[in-house]
Amino acid sequence: MIEKNKEYELDIIAQGYEGEGISKTSEGFTIFIPEALKGEKVRVKIVKSKKSYAYGKLIEILKPSKNREIPICPIYKRCGGCSLQHTSYNSQLEFKTERVKDCMSKIAKINPDIVKPAIGMKNPYRYRNKVQLPVGSNNGELQIGFFAPRSHDIIDMKSCYIQDEVADKAVDIIRKWILKNNIKPYIVDGQYSPEGVLRHIMVRKGFKTNEVMVVLVTTTEKLPHKEELILELAQSIPEIKSIMLNINTKPTNVILGEKSLVLYGKDHISDYIGNFKFNISPLSFFQVNPVQTEILYAKALEFAELTGNETVFDAYCGTGTISLFLSQKAKRVYGVEIVPQAIENAIHNAKENNVKNAEFHVGEAEKIIPEMISQGIKAEVVVVDPPRKGCEKALLEAIAKMSPERIVYVSCDPSTLARDLAILEEMNYETKEVQSVDMFPQTAHIENVALITRK
Ligand SMILES: C[S@@+](CC[C@H](N)C(=O)[O-])C[C@H]1O[C@@H](n2cnc3c(N)ncnc32)[C@H](O)[C@@H]1O
Repeated sequence: MIEKNKEYELDIIAQGYEGEGISKTSEGFTIFIPEALKGEKVRVKIVKSKKSYAYGKLIEILKPSKNREIPICPIYKRCGGCSLQHTSYNSQLEFKTERVKDCMSKIAKINPDIVKPAIGMKNPYRYRNKVQLPVGSNNGELQIGFFAPRSHDIIDMKSCYIQDEVADKAVDIIRKWILKNNIKPYIVDGQYSPEGVLRHIMVRKGFKTNEVMVVLVTTTEKLPHKEELILELAQSIPEIKSIMLNINTKPTNVILGEKSLVLYGKDHISDYIGNFKFNISPLSFFQVNPVQTEILYAKALEFAELTGNETVFDAYCGTGTISLFLSQKAKRVYGVEIVPQAIENAIHNAKENNVKNAEFHVGEAEKIIPEMISQGIKAEVVVVDPPRKGCEKALLEAIAKMSPERIVYVSCDPSTLARDLAILEEMNYETKEVQSVDMFPQTAHIENVALITRK
């Protein structure tokens, strides 16, 4: 029996879906230990114990794994964002590939050998093009960083190793300006402060254009001493092409408000994915790892095997990025997305890039696509890129009934991908290949693109 608050020496036999170490007693009792690695022997204090499983806190590593590395980030333990930084990048990729294989065999009941090793990054740090940091104070000390997991406590942060360095530089300037001018932060001792002015700092960067946007999210249009900050930011960081004020007066954890004002430069920056140019405003969605996005989309396009004669459905199309990629080789692409603003962006993006063979529809893919099919539109290839919960079964049924030659499934959750592949296998489709792409190094997340063909 494993008891709470007691210490145990355990062998780690596997890693769970979040990267946590897993140990089992001879009676089959399972213990989950965050930060422990497969192959290690560790001393653990039990912090939670249930009937058949427990959670332990890592106290001491008695025999380290050869893959263990010292995390480069000093706040790694408290922040919780990079849950795999204690293991080498190669072993992160192996872990992610194994996780996807496990989902394929256990959930989809298909041969895990169809999963190809995760495509990693040459440099698995500094890859993110967007950071959003809450601004607060604790016992009078200014704190700008990330919320600790499941709390409103801000972990103060001077440098985030998965963000572009320009964000560190901009935040440092803003930090000095706040202290000098006594600007009131919005989160005081874990609570929203009615006198608070500055809520969040957002920094976005176009990796190909080098253009940088700084967004100050405030409770008011009247930000005191703003001219001094604008001058300092613009002079110190010439790549800054846009400084925006975003006003959010609502006491919720939604970061951005609806209204944005230009303080300096343009109201947007630009970046490219492949040859397509995208305008990025404070509120617009843009993939956060542009390097891996290109790899993912290129794989989706390869799997689609387009010759120029095909009609393609792009379900869950967001701002139409995949649709534009597909349009290069398809006869016609129909993008469907539930968020009206995303569709507005998609239409704008298509126009800006002179794409004439893509059209976009607002609504639930599981309703709109069956409607389009009943109107006589027939697609030879269907691409889906749903949120974490996967596709609605009604959509999969409608697709299978239309009987396209190929389905390309882009997924950010291997468990729901596997569930949906199992459904498609029952409807005369076969999964041929799953390619994992590491969009989020240092974290346990993994993106996949699957090729499914008609039997
Ligand atoms: C993972 S994102 C894909 C975005 C896009 N393909 C891209 O690469 O930028 C999933 C998208 O599905 C949309 N969505 C969620 N539920 C939906 C539904 N039932 N029908 C259509 N779109 C939906 C979300 O708004 C979101 O834009």
